[in-house]
Amino acid sequence: MKRKDFLYRLSLGTPPLLLGSPLLLHCGCEKESVAQQNPRNTENPEIRDNENIQAVEDEFKTLLPIPKEINGGNLNAQYTSAKIRSGTSTRVLGYQKNECLGPTLSLKKGAILDIKFSNRLDENSNIHWHGLTPPPEMDGHPKDTLSPGKEFRYQFRVNNRAGTYWYHPHPIHHTAAQVYEGLAGLIFIRDTVEQEVNLPKEDREIPLIIQDKRNIEPSLDHTPNHYDVMWGYLGDHMVINGVYQPYLPVKTTTYRLRVLNGSNARIYDLALSNDLTFFLIGSDCGFLERPFELRSITLAPGERVDLLVNFSKQKISTSVFLMDKNSQQKLIKFLVKEAQEDAFILPAELLKIEKIAPETAVKTRSFSLSNQSMMGMRQIHRINHKVYDPDRVDEVVKSKSVEIWEFDNTHGRFDHPMHLHGVQFQILERKGGRNRLIPSETAYKDTFLVGRGEMVKIIIPFDNEKGRYVFHCHTLEHENDGMMLQYEIT
Ligand code: C2O
Ligand code: CU
Ligand code: CU
Repeated sequence: MKRKDFLYRLSLGTPPLLLGSPLLLHCGCEKESVAQQNPRNTENPEIRDNENIQAVEDEFKTLLPIPKEINGGNLNAQYTSAKIRSGTSTRVLGYQKNECLGPTLSLKKGAILDIKFSNRLDENSNIHWHGLTPPPEMDGHPKDTLSPGKEFRYQFRVNNRAGTYWYHPHPIHHTAAQVYEGLAGLIFIRDTVEQEVNLPKEDREIPLIIQDKRNIEPSLDHTPNHYDVMWGYLGDHMVINGVYQPYLPVKTTTYRLRVLNGSNARIYDLALSNDLTFFLIGSDCGFLERPFELRSITLAPGERVDLLVNFSKQKISTSVFLMDKNSQQKLIKFLVKEAQEDAFILPAELLKIEKIAPETAVKTRSFSLSNQSMMGMRQIHRINHKVYDPDRVDEVVKSKSVEIWEFDNTHGRFDHPMHLHGVQFQILERKGGRNRLIPSETAYKDTFLVGRGEMVKIIIPFDNEKGRYVFHCHTLEHENDGMMLQYEIT
């Protein structure tokens, strides 16, 4: 991967001509919601050129692959190839041979996660368990990477509630490329609360990893230029579970969709065609208190939603599409194929979520996200004017304390989905922009969008083991660029 290294550095060293373009000159005071703005699709010429390409319905011919479930074993980061578009083969990275994306790690709450990771790449890698709260040495901190040829056994007890979590590499400067080129997978934690809710199972519980790719053939190449570092690396090929334009045959009953935005930078506004609504039942770290019936939901990179879709009113051979309203693209086709009585009863309540009282916070910290540098500076995106330094601890927090952290992007021109390692937290408020929390933000979270013009306050119980963790923007080009700091629990 020396070539990629070279391209990365080259792009950062290139005179940033694009910085002079008008998009940097307009102020960050737009009032529309992030979901409606869709700034990067309209302002990135590469995307705009393709906006009129509407998928022809019969292009959705490849059966949606479902990642196999494992409860332990080996994950081997390797160079391999995969069938992303039917009939062609793409060079990708994978955790197993001939597949991009890894298997779904399925574990009961309280079980030991036990994975032997082997790095068969020619650059450093590791695994971070996004949303879980392992001890610091098992968290896949960017300082804890394995050099090529090395192995490491990740082993810790999972104490997190049932939810849709995920794993991906976290090596400094290489996370964006490794995730983009195929290294990511889901984690399903299951518990008794989930069991009692009695949701659709097996062939009616469908994982959906949504990603956008720029080119599919001959390889997934992450080669950001300066512009991509600024806006994030966007592609116009929507790939679901590693396949371009897939379809899934469904019956006239209720399905559970467990959705991950595994894209490097794209923010989706998910909706169904045919005027179908869905029920939102969970987000990053488990269930909401109750189901919410919605027409669309915003999903930023790193975020997850758990959805229920009822196909019982659809006629046989109808096609229902999951779409992204931001890019106007169809993501996957559900083909209603067979009648089946819908016996599913939607529970009125899902989980009792105790709101963490703001008065319990012993400290409030502020982080400015509005301070990207202008011309001539190497790093564009910063937190509190700082760029990641592995040797510097930026924030020290007391073990078992509760704190409020506010992320201020009021004068910023870019959206930043922020993510903290080692903790699960609640969102207290959002000011500016959307000016309100959306239903997916009423439960425990680990990633949240701070859109341009917004200020978001979260409340965090620091219950994890003492040690160093990172927090960063999950637009992976921003993270690669150093939009990441460290905190230490002492
Ligand atoms: Cu999913 Cu530190 O990242
Ligand atoms: Cu994480
Ligand atoms: Cu960012």
